[in-house]
Amino acid sequence: MKNAKEKLILALDVPTFDEARIIVDALGDAVQIYKVGYQLFVAYGPFIVRYLEAQGKKVFLDLKFHDIPNTVANAVSSAVGLGVHPHDALDGDGKPMGKFTPLFMLTVHTQGGLDMMKAAADAANKRAQELKVPKPLLVGVTVLTSDAPSTETSRLVLERAQLAKAAGLDGVVSSVKEVAMLRRELGRDFILVTPGIRTADSDAGDQKRVETPAVAVKSGSSFLVVGRPIVKAKDPRSAALNILDEMAKV
Ligand code: C5P
Repeated sequence: MKNAKEKLILALDVPTFDEARIIVDALGDAVQIYKVGYQLFVAYGPFIVRYLEAQGKKVFLDLKFHDIPNTVANAVSSAVGLGVHPHDALDGDGKPMGKFTPLFMLTVHTQGGLDMMKAAADAANKRAQELKVPKPLLVGVTVLTSDAPSTETSRLVLERAQLAKAAGLDGVVSSVKEVAMLRRELGRDFILVTPGIRTADSDAGDQKRVETPAVAVKSGSSFLVVGRPIVKAKDPRSAALNILDEMAKV
């Protein structure tokens, strides 16, 4: 298994920049990848992304784009260029000041369909080439882990994941419960991102399809997204270290 730290993504679901900074400082080198969702991005925009990148962190922008193909392609294009233009200060030659760090990962919603996902993948490739930066990993959300399981869930997840692969996406987001099947059907290189991770002693909250870090790793998950079990812990750093330990033991 690759280093547990390279597989752990912290969902930075807090309302203010100050709270985000306290968590990031407390976690230190335990967490390398941060997921920025609606809560912080709507409040702070690209600033929060730049802040995390300045701390040497990788950023997963989870805005789950879902709209007509042209609109999603434009949003993806803007996301790939995040940190370059127009939000950065420009120097006298009109070039961005400071080091540019591309996003690590971003999400679109697979419910947008094949054409939308293809447009997203094309836009990501094109913009990354234009900017001469590595393309961020583009992953499709299949079925939310807060949706109660039904007899249709795994069929739906597989169908949407196959569509995502056909469209040229790098991977999908699913619950751990579908990971072994997706790994089998979609191959070892397809990226499988799994939220809904709960340690044996943590609250499920609104999540309905949860699994432990150990089961996630064993099942073949590429990245584990963990929010409240770390963010709401009395000691977030030791909560993160315990999860890393459980992952590493697999
Ligand atoms: O706090 P918790 O560990 O439940 O956080 C999970 C994170 O993963 C949240 O930010 C949520 O938006 C996100 N997510 C999810 N299910 C998906 C896709 C993303 O829970 N299918």
